[in-house]
Amino acid sequence: MVDQPLLRIKELRTHFHTERGRVTAVDGITLHVEEREILGVVGESGCGKSVTSQSILRLFDEKRTVKYEGEIHFKSKNLLKISNANMQKIRGNDIAMIFQDPLSSLNPVYTIGYQITESIMLHQKLQKKKAYEKAVEMLRLTGIPAPEKRVNDYPHELSGGMRQRAMIAMALACQPRLLIADEPTTALDVTIQAQILDLINRLNQELNMSVIFITHDLGVIAEICTRVVVMYLGQIVEEADVEKLFSNPLHPYTKGLMKSIPQIDGDRSQALHVIEGTVPSLHDVPNGCRFASRCPYASDLCRAKMPELKIVKTGQKVRCWHYEEILEKEEVDV
Ligand SMILES: Nc1ncnc2c1ncn2[C@@H]1O[C@H](COP(=O)(O)OP(=O)(O)O)[C@@H](O)[C@H]1O
Ligand SMILES: [Mg+2]
Repeated sequence: MVDQPLLRIKELRTHFHTERGRVTAVDGITLHVEEREILGVVGESGCGKSVTSQSILRLFDEKRTVKYEGEIHFKSKNLLKISNANMQKIRGNDIAMIFQDPLSSLNPVYTIGYQITESIMLHQKLQKKKAYEKAVEMLRLTGIPAPEKRVNDYPHELSGGMRQRAMIAMALACQPRLLIADEPTTALDVTIQAQILDLINRLNQELNMSVIFITHDLGVIAEICTRVVVMYLGQIVEEADVEKLFSNPLHPYTKGLMKSIPQIDGDRSQALHVIEGTVPSLHDVPNGCRFASRCPYASDLCRAKMPELKIVKTGQKVRCWHYEEILEKEEVDV
C-alpha cells in the first residue's frame, strides 16, 4: 500500500462574512504534506497564507464569521467534518502552531514554565511534577541555556529569540505530528532568524515531525523547505520542489518574488526589486488571472479567463497561460 500523505487538503475555500459582503480569502487550495517533510508556503502579505493555516485548525468562529468548503484530511479524518470536541483534541496535540509574535500566544502574567506545564497537563495525563520536568526538557531541546532557571522567567524577561524558542517548546510539548509555523522568524534579526530556522530543521529531523513553514520571504524558503507552494490572492499559482523553483521558476509572480530576495554579496547600491502594484482587494477579485494587473506579460486572454493550475513537464504545477512562451522569450533574451 502506498503511504498516504500526513495532510491532504482538497479544494479548500474559506469565506468570511464581512460588513461589505462575503469574501473568499482562500479560494480552492489543494495541497498535501508528506510525513517528515517541510512544506513552504510563500506569498506577499494578504495572499491568504495565515487564513489557510488557521483553516486547517478551524480557528475561525464557525457560527458567525466563516464558512469552509472542501476537504482537509488528516489521519484518515476530514477535519472539516468532525465535531468541535474532536477538533479540540487535534489542536495542540496532533497539530501545533507557532506565530510571528510569541507575546500574543504567551500569557504575560505566568512564567513560561507554568504555561508549558499547563499545556502538557491539558493534553497529556501527566502529574504536575512530571509535566514540569518535561517543560524543562522541552526548553532544553529548543536550545535555551540554563532551562532549569529560565523556566521560572516571565515572557517579558526573555529576548525575542528566546521567547520564540519558549513558544516552540510549548508547541512541541505534546509531540505534534505537524507543526504549522506562520512567519515565526519575521520579527527576528537575521542571526536569531538563522538559529530558529536551524532549530526547526533539527526538530523536524529528530522528532519526525512534518512542518508547514509560512513566510513572505523566498530566501527563508531556500534555507529550510523541500517543497514550496506559491500563493497569490487566495490561490496557488505555482508548486515545485525547492531546487526546481529556484532554478526554473515558471510563474511571473514567482519570478518577481525571486528578484526581491536580498543578495548578501550583491550590489547594495542597487535598490531591491519590488513587484509593482499591490495585491487586489478581496472585494474586487479579477475574473481572469489574479496576477494579470501586475504581470508584465499579461494578455487579453489573461484578463478574461483564469488559467487552471496545471502539471507541466518538469513536474512543477503552474497557473499561467503563457509560461512556455515566457521561457522561450527569456532564452532568446539571455
Ligand atoms: N476574519 C477575517 N474576516 C475577513 N477577512 C479576513 C479575515 N482574516 C483575514 N481576512 C482577509 O483575508 C486575506 C488573507 O489574509 P491572510 O491569510 O492573513 O494573509 P497573509 O497571511 O498571506 O498575509 C486578507 O485580505 C485579509 O484581509
Ligand atoms: Mg499572515
